[in-house]
Amino acid sequence: MKKTRNEVINNDEIDLNLKNEHEHINKKDQQRIDKEYQKKIVERKKKFLESLKTENEVFDKRTLMNLYNLLVGKHVDELSGIINSGKEAVVFRAEGKDKETGEFEEYAVKVYRVSNCDFKTMWKYIQGDPRFHLKRSSTRQIINAWVEKEFRNLLRAGDYINAPFAILKRENVLLMELICDEDGTPCPRLKDCIVDYEKFYEQIREDIKILYQDAKLVHGDLSEYNILVQDDEPIYIDFSQGVISQHPLSKTLLIRDIKNVCNFFKRKGVKTDYKEFYKYATGSELHPLDEELAKNY
Ligand SMILES: Nc1ncnc2c1ncn2[C@@H]1O[C@H](COP(=O)(O)OP(=O)(O)O)[C@@H](O)[C@H]1O
Ligand SMILES: [Mg+2]
Repeated sequence: MKKTRNEVINNDEIDLNLKNEHEHINKKDQQRIDKEYQKKIVERKKKFLESLKTENEVFDKRTLMNLYNLLVGKHVDELSGIINSGKEAVVFRAEGKDKETGEFEEYAVKVYRVSNCDFKTMWKYIQGDPRFHLKRSSTRQIINAWVEKEFRNLLRAGDYINAPFAILKRENVLLMELICDEDGTPCPRLKDCIVDYEKFYEQIREDIKILYQDAKLVHGDLSEYNILVQDDEPIYIDFSQGVISQHPLSKTLLIRDIKNVCNFFKRKGVKTDYKEFYKYATGSELHPLDEELAKNY
């Protein structure tokens, strides 16, 4: 039906009014939603800071902000306890929903205590690493590079051997996959487990070879403390000291790693031979000079 001019105008007016009303409602709704959202954020922040207090942890303001940003960034909903509190770092267990799948996930959050870190040693490892081009740096920059190094090493190692998947880093805070059992309980360290030691020794020997020859990486702090056991398999953690094979310290660190592993398995009754292990891992004989250097390290 043909509309009269009048009708058209009226209809337009009605539309306009409706639109205005809609905008009005939207604005009001939006304000309410924003308010609720802000309130929720404040509540979360309070709860989060409270949970840290009960953990008896003292962090600087910037670390708290980095941790808190993990929440606001919606990676983690809450920190649900401390897994380990060491001199240089604290590892929290955390829970949240995966951003993409929406599924419930468990995480490990490693937080470096800025004031307790040994910057001199960190600097030594970072300096020789061609992935980092730091000239004289502030302690913040050094710690950033240190955590970045751990993050990259975890991803690189994880392409070849078992290691937690690194998700993100924010300055001195690293978020990664939690290595846990079906109930979400963090897996124990090799040091605290009873395993088939012969089998584990062989497996670790194979993994170190793959890490060195294919991933071109040396763990740098390998021991029964930095190997977790999940489903009767070794999972390697704590790659912060890891260096790539071109690094001037790589051989020294590899020898030290191999000796640590051999000493542990020897105590468990396994016949070990660090020279043979070294040759197997690298494909070349252990040079007496490298061994001498490793002794003093
Ligand atoms: N991804 C993880 N999943 C489960 N437990 C972990 C994870 N990362 C660390 N842990 C636990 O926290 C402890 C300390 O972590 P680590 O990275 O070795 O830090 P540190 O530098 O203090 O040795 C480990 O021995 C392990 O028990
Ligand atoms: Mg460790």
